[in-house]
Amino acid sequence: MVSKKIIYPFLLVVIFCLSGFSYSEFSIKPKYSVPNNDEDLNRRVDSLMALMTLKEKIGQTVLYTTQFDITGPSIDDNYLDYLREGSLGAMFNATGSAFTRKLQKIAVEETRLGIPLLFGYDVIHGYKTIFPIPMGEASSWDLELIEKSARISAIEASVEGLHWTFAPMVDVARDPRWGRISEGAGEDTFLCTKISEARVRGFQGDDLSQDNTILACAKHYAAYGAAQAGRDYHTVDISENTLRNVYLPPFEALVKQGVATFMTSFNEVNGVPATGNKYLLKDILRDEWNFDGFVVTDYTSINEMVHHGYAKDLKHAGELAFNAGVDMDMQGGVYLNEMEKSIEEGTISETQLNQSVRSILKLKFKLGLFDDPYRYCHEDQEKEIILSKEHLQIAREVAQKSIVLLKNDDKILPLKSDTKIALIGPLADDEFNIIGNWTARGDRDGVAVSVKEGLEARNSNFTFTKGCEISSDSRSDIANALEIAATSDVVVMVLGESERMSGEAASRTNIKLPGIQQELIKEIKKTGKPLVIVLMNGRPLDLSLESEQVDAIVEAWFPGTSGGHAIVDVLFGDYNPSGKLTVTFPMTIGQIPIHYNMKNTGRPAYIKGANERYSSKYIDAPNKPLYPFGFGLSYTTFEYGSISLDRETLSENTTINASIEVKNTGEYDGEEIIQLYIKDVIGSITRPTKELKGFKKIFLKKGESKTVIFEIAAEDLKFYKNKSGFINEEGKYEMFIAGNSDHEFTDSFNFIFSKI
Ligand code: BGC
Repeated sequence: MVSKKIIYPFLLVVIFCLSGFSYSEFSIKPKYSVPNNDEDLNRRVDSLMALMTLKEKIGQTVLYTTQFDITGPSIDDNYLDYLREGSLGAMFNATGSAFTRKLQKIAVEETRLGIPLLFGYDVIHGYKTIFPIPMGEASSWDLELIEKSARISAIEASVEGLHWTFAPMVDVARDPRWGRISEGAGEDTFLCTKISEARVRGFQGDDLSQDNTILACAKHYAAYGAAQAGRDYHTVDISENTLRNVYLPPFEALVKQGVATFMTSFNEVNGVPATGNKYLLKDILRDEWNFDGFVVTDYTSINEMVHHGYAKDLKHAGELAFNAGVDMDMQGGVYLNEMEKSIEEGTISETQLNQSVRSILKLKFKLGLFDDPYRYCHEDQEKEIILSKEHLQIAREVAQKSIVLLKNDDKILPLKSDTKIALIGPLADDEFNIIGNWTARGDRDGVAVSVKEGLEARNSNFTFTKGCEISSDSRSDIANALEIAATSDVVVMVLGESERMSGEAASRTNIKLPGIQQELIKEIKKTGKPLVIVLMNGRPLDLSLESEQVDAIVEAWFPGTSGGHAIVDVLFGDYNPSGKLTVTFPMTIGQIPIHYNMKNTGRPAYIKGANERYSSKYIDAPNKPLYPFGFGLSYTTFEYGSISLDRETLSENTTINASIEVKNTGEYDGEEIIQLYIKDVIGSITRPTKELKGFKKIFLKKGESKTVIFEIAAEDLKFYKNKSGFINEEGKYEMFIAGNSDHEFTDSFNFIFSKI
């Protein structure tokens, strides 16, 4: 009798030969090549799947971390055992060509079918060369540059063996208490969509089979940014209209753009956890949008459905998630341990499992991993590519453009080269916090450039003392700070939050500068010296005190590896700041939620005819924020002409061109971000008081003017109305074009359906 051991490999050989695979020598491992077209791809995936056992198929739906960089409960650390058994399809937090090669070798050589692993990682704003935090980078409104920074991140990550980033985070976020506001593109849906598209273009390029492009992941689906009270992971309860008009459009846009993967969010949406939410995952994502990549959970979010009170145990949670449309389980071990039982019992169908496995394998094929599982491991190139001079230079440019000048009284900035500076503050000599959090493999000490180092590199005339810590209440250095301030021409204080005060699980109920930093400002102010503050932070802060006490405010966010240089470039005017806020800075925390595109009420305040007392306002603070969405100063000034419209009426098959002349009327060359806002005056559901519908960033030499044209189409005016979908409505639309969102309407046009 011939033993199974001999027959089995023989059968495999026959099946592979028949199905288009070929062998290199006589080995049980098939040799693959990148598929030429969809048909070829499907055939290969089918052939491979025909060989897979149920356990092996389930294995493809399992994602585990190594023990680095974990952001949640460590469920178990047996990942090497799972890997050897063929029970792991993907891994995260494994980086470096040598390490990923080692793990890949186990997958390829020690498992029965040798299916390569997919390596994922949070490459959020850079891999080793760290760019400003996403909220900072978004403040550049510079889509080309944002795409470039994602491209560089992909180049650096992929040279170290990575195939997949858990980015971009496309959650619209409007609550500065929420720490993860730092990871997104701000409060506006339109801008967030454009920026997210640029990020995906950068990560995925236009050919996934290139070994320097990586899969992107649209996260966190959905409405994670709407967590109640800004507390991370908290409940989300919103109307269908708000969900569709505010939170979902960036996700839909990314599907259109071919984003490879989606990640579910931790929160529930209207009573159903996002990870078990069939409405979001099947009805909308698959059926309406035709997404054909795969969906991964967030970290243990299947398991968390038990805590949500939605699943009775892990097996039930797994069934809810899988049947809702989740293809891959991140770190929960639920699919690994429970799915087989569910399939046996018929609560999960194997046909459905086949679909998930197919979507995962397809991407592995597209990445070329079956052609060469090590094709992203480039031990020999890591050194040359990572932190290259070019990457650092681009990081400096992105950081320059991310900086938002919030205040500049008496044109105190830019500083003259020989100005004697007192450099004070807990973040002035900081190489740690300056790169922010979610910094992948970004180096801090010795690589990131602090403001102090930036000043040294420019041979500036300065003396430094810390003055205080970020959070502690020690006052021991205040006297030194006062002393150096007294003998300076200007004081530059570098203040802010620690990198840990924003990002995941870092919600704050108080959004003022922490510790005794405000006290230090007040003390320094008493010296009467001109006072500039540079801020590093991951959220809008309550700057009401600062805006009164200081002469200039430079919002630098966490500007990344080259951040110190970029800040100094701005301080001295080597770069004229051009960033604009993508999120509103409130006057006080009590105004939250506050965003530029809120709705009107039946009793609007501060308008002609409003009742002094019985109108919608606070009795102890204004309605207006401290700094509005879209706001940011320059060292020069821009004058806007009046809008000229090429027609007064728009229909579904025409467009209107709105043109405006913008002139640089100041003393410096500079860039301006020109913003178009439109208001749908009367709607069959109430509409926001204004909405950003376009923007252009232009460079103007001093004295120069340019005409900027925005094309407005019916599509731009659509909004979601429950049960009717996205619709246009006839009526009057008001508009303005300006340098920020706080402006009166100047023009209008009508939308009328064409009669044909
Ligand atoms: C975060 C995700 C991240 C994942 C993997 C989670 O805690 O919410 O954004 O991608 O961890 O690190």
